[in-house]
Amino acid sequence: MSSGPTPDSEPLIIGHRGASAHAPENTLVAFERALGDGADGLELDVRLSRDGVPFVIHDATLVRTALREGHVESLGSEELSALDAGTWFNLRRPAFAREEFARESVPTLAEVFKRFGRRARVLYVEMKCDEPGRGAGLAHSVVELTRAHGLAHSVVLKSFAHELVREGKRLAPEIRAAALFDRQWARPLVAPSTVIAKAAACRADEISLHRSLLRRTTVEAAKRQGFGVVVWTVDTPFWLRRARALGLSAVITNRPAEMRAALETLARPGAGGREKQ
Ligand code: G3P
Ligand code: CA
Repeated sequence: MSSGPTPDSEPLIIGHRGASAHAPENTLVAFERALGDGADGLELDVRLSRDGVPFVIHDATLVRTALREGHVESLGSEELSALDAGTWFNLRRPAFAREEFARESVPTLAEVFKRFGRRARVLYVEMKCDEPGRGAGLAHSVVELTRAHGLAHSVVLKSFAHELVREGKRLAPEIRAAALFDRQWARPLVAPSTVIAKAAACRADEISLHRSLLRRTTVEAAKRQGFGVVVWTVDTPFWLRRARALGLSAVITNRPAEMRAALETLARPGAGGREKQ
């Protein structure tokens, strides 16, 4: 396994799609805000354009975050770069709207690496792919860009599609990778041994759990096997206390500022240390 945070360190705070509670998700302004708000690292979603360029966007379609019809994979990179990726946020979250958000575009992964690669301690790059047959190309492009930007030490490849995690590790054993487990594994609750077997099968270094799956038994079993454990998406101090008590490597949050403030309070001398939960 590639090396990660030491087990006794505080959990890293990772901005989920940037500081996505306060700025349009997966845009440069959201990533800037996350780091400015005290995030240690960033989480972002990547999809391939029609011409094979990795773009940072969550949904397969453009409807929600670019307010137009169409699929990411059916647009060329020039068309994707011309989209407005911020107006939707101003309309949906008027309390946080800013005129300049309407000038945000859908960034390429290369742009994000160039601007934040040296400033973020960790970059969780989630590979999203709905088209069978393009997944290997996505993993290949992300690995190539990671190496080209000299970021093999800070990028963590991850996906719900564990075959993409496996492909990433096959191509680049030196880059860390995380197997994602979504909330559907909570009912009935997946056994720790199943989580570990699935993560091991794709050669992941980390296990990334939806908060509904966070159990001491799972975390302890995973840590015994050498996996780092991360929880997403958590926005309140309750989860930070839990993450500290369980010795998680990172929390992925839409609200890095609030989580940083909470961590500073909890880690203050005399705050009671890490309680067992
Ligand atoms: O970090 C995991 C989380 O980002 C996965 O869910 O839908 O936000 O990409 P989603
Ligand atoms: Ca994601």
